[in-house]
Amino acid sequence: MTTKSSRQYLSGFGSHLTSEALPGALPIGQNSPQVCPYNLYAEQLSGTAFTVPRTHNQRSWLYRIRPSVCHKPFEKLEHSHLLSSFDKKNCVITPTQIRWSPFDIPETNEETDFVQGLKTVCGAGDPSVKEGLAIHVYLANKSMVNTTFYNSDGDFLIVPQQGRLEIRTEFGYIDVDPNEICVIQRGIKFSVALPDGPSRGYVLEVFGSHFELPDLGPIGANGLANPRDFQTPVAAYEESQGDWSMISKFDGELFVAEMDHCPYNVVAWHGNYAPYKYNLAHFNAMNTVTFDHPDPSIFTVLTCKSAYPGVAIADFVIFPPRWACGEHTFRPPYFHRNCMSEFMGLITGEYEAKAGGFLPGAGR
Ligand SMILES: *[C@@H]1O[C@H](CO)[C@@H](O)[C@H](O)[C@H]1NC(C)=O
Ligand SMILES: *[C@@H]1O[C@H](CO)[C@@H](O)[C@H](O)[C@H]1NC(C)=O
Repeated sequence: MTTKSSRQYLSGFGSHLTSEALPGALPIGQNSPQVCPYNLYAEQLSGTAFTVPRTHNQRSWLYRIRPSVCHKPFEKLEHSHLLSSFDKKNCVITPTQIRWSPFDIPETNEETDFVQGLKTVCGAGDPSVKEGLAIHVYLANKSMVNTTFYNSDGDFLIVPQQGRLEIRTEFGYIDVDPNEICVIQRGIKFSVALPDGPSRGYVLEVFGSHFELPDLGPIGANGLANPRDFQTPVAAYEESQGDWSMISKFDGELFVAEMDHCPYNVVAWHGNYAPYKYNLAHFNAMNTVTFDHPDPSIFTVLTCKSAYPGVAIADFVIFPPRWACGEHTFRPPYFHRNCMSEFMGLITGEYEAKAGGFLPGAGR
């Protein structure tokens, strides 16, 4: 059942990439009869305001068979486990340190797909003002069939803990194994299939901005997550009629619209706003070679910066298998208190700083 995927990917982080599933589908300049090759529609997907400075501007152009706007009106879809904002009415608020046992994969008679299986664990802020973040888990045992989903509220950083994910996106296919992560940005449609059956994992959602690689300072040009190890799918399209449901998460609520064709009809694309995955085994961990224990920020894979220098809305940090050796050092890790909130999950193995009982699929 577990065949290794042979998908192709493009490498790089934040690069301007190009991909075409048919030769010549990407227009170069303007074509003289003012139509795209193969009569495709040109559609821009902006991930930032139009006017954001060039170094932070993110957008892609999609060349597709049908424009995205071809669907019926949206209707409200009930979903009892997603939390939209984190105020005192909605949430349990407590200063107590909390630990959750591994979240259960559904055992009701209901089969549950990735979207139905999303459950909010905690968060802060509000997607309506594009500030803050949410932490969800997903617990799924069914592939999404003729259903596509996009998040209008922010970007999803998905961390499968059990079971591979085969994710079909408008930009192409990404297979994500446990110990890999993927980021699917705001507005990008995707469907999740489960080639191994039931799957469980964590989702970090950021409302305001996008993930980027942390600055390296005196570490230099290399280290931590290297840009070349990020992988973006290549264009793949399907031209077909059929009944599809398109689910949108919009201001924390779910809505569904019906459509009469496959939404994955992008034949070619170019730009720097595209989903990507990263294998955590490629993380180049830094550590002490003399004494003491660096702050855990040394393990930052991706950061989502706030408007205040050095302060993140969210940092995605890992504690990978690594050597920890030092002389004349207090037993690491040190106890610490800080002004950030932390959520920790476990993909595999044992975390050295927790006494027993912190299992894969759990949270704290
Ligand atoms: C999902 O869970 C239901 C209820 O336990 C079960 O009947 C079904 O076989 C499961 N599906 C898969 C693909 O594991
Ligand atoms: C699902 O979509 C495909 C096209 O992508 C279509 O061939 C098929 O009929 C659809 N299934 C249903 C149940 O409508």
